[in-house]
Amino acid sequence: MGDCGPLNGGDAGGGVAGHDGQDALCGGPLRNPVPRSRIGAMTSVGLIRRADPADAEAICAIYNAALAERSSTFETEPRSGADFEARIKDPCFPFLVSDRGEGVIGWAGLAPYSARECYAGIGECSVYVAAPARGRGIGTDLTDSLAAVAQRRGFHKMLGKLFLDNIAGVRLVERCGFQRVGVHRRHGQLDGTWLDVLVVELPLGSR
Ligand SMILES: CC(C)(COP(=O)(O)OP(=O)(O)OC[C@H]1O[C@@H](n2cnc3c(N)ncnc32)[C@H](O)[C@@H]1OP(=O)(O)O)[C@@H](O)C(=O)NCCC(=O)NCCS
Repeated sequence: MGDCGPLNGGDAGGGVAGHDGQDALCGGPLRNPVPRSRIGAMTSVGLIRRADPADAEAICAIYNAALAERSSTFETEPRSGADFEARIKDPCFPFLVSDRGEGVIGWAGLAPYSARECYAGIGECSVYVAAPARGRGIGTDLTDSLAAVAQRRGFHKMLGKLFLDNIAGVRLVERCGFQRVGVHRRHGQLDGTWLDVLVVELPLGSR
């Protein structure tokens, strides 16, 4: 387990169900607290558990399929499983998957917001659900679970950046309690078209 600086805690302080199957949910107030039973247990939308390096290829496949849809990321070149394996192994940033027992159907993870020390408590959030599994609450479950784990790990805020016209993504974050910060107009080009980016944030409570 590496040193995560001020956020050091990794899974030792209680992440989500890991390889040992232990339920270790976060405490403390949260707008949308995830009931203990939903972590590491089967729910109506499957099991939310900590990602395993063996999940990297499935996680990558979901991401690359969404990348091809051109509605959620500026990236245009497919990622590799190794890219995701490195993120999964990073002890400082939680990475969860939804698994109904037949493989990974969605994932949610935090990434560094900034290398500057003052921003160490902010994690940038990504949520991806396989197209056939969308609209059944899996994205909501993953986002709520990620918020709960992030709070437990000492993050004070989750940040999201979405294309303004990503209707499903915007509805998801609003449903999960994120607040709109503002819109970066013409923030980047995707296939030659300028796109607006909505910035949202979810405070995780005082530490
Ligand atoms: C955004 C995404 C993760 C939502 O996952 P999901 O499992 O379908 O989400 P849920 O079923 O929990 O639904 C969450 C909200 O999105 C809405 N939604 C889901 N699919 C939708 C669609 N195709 N069109 C409009 N709204 C949609 C739901 O109705 C719900 O909103 P509501 O409570 O106001 O009704 C999924 O569409 C996805 O993977 N998209 C590609 C990646 C992406 O855009 N990620 C977000 C940016 S990181």
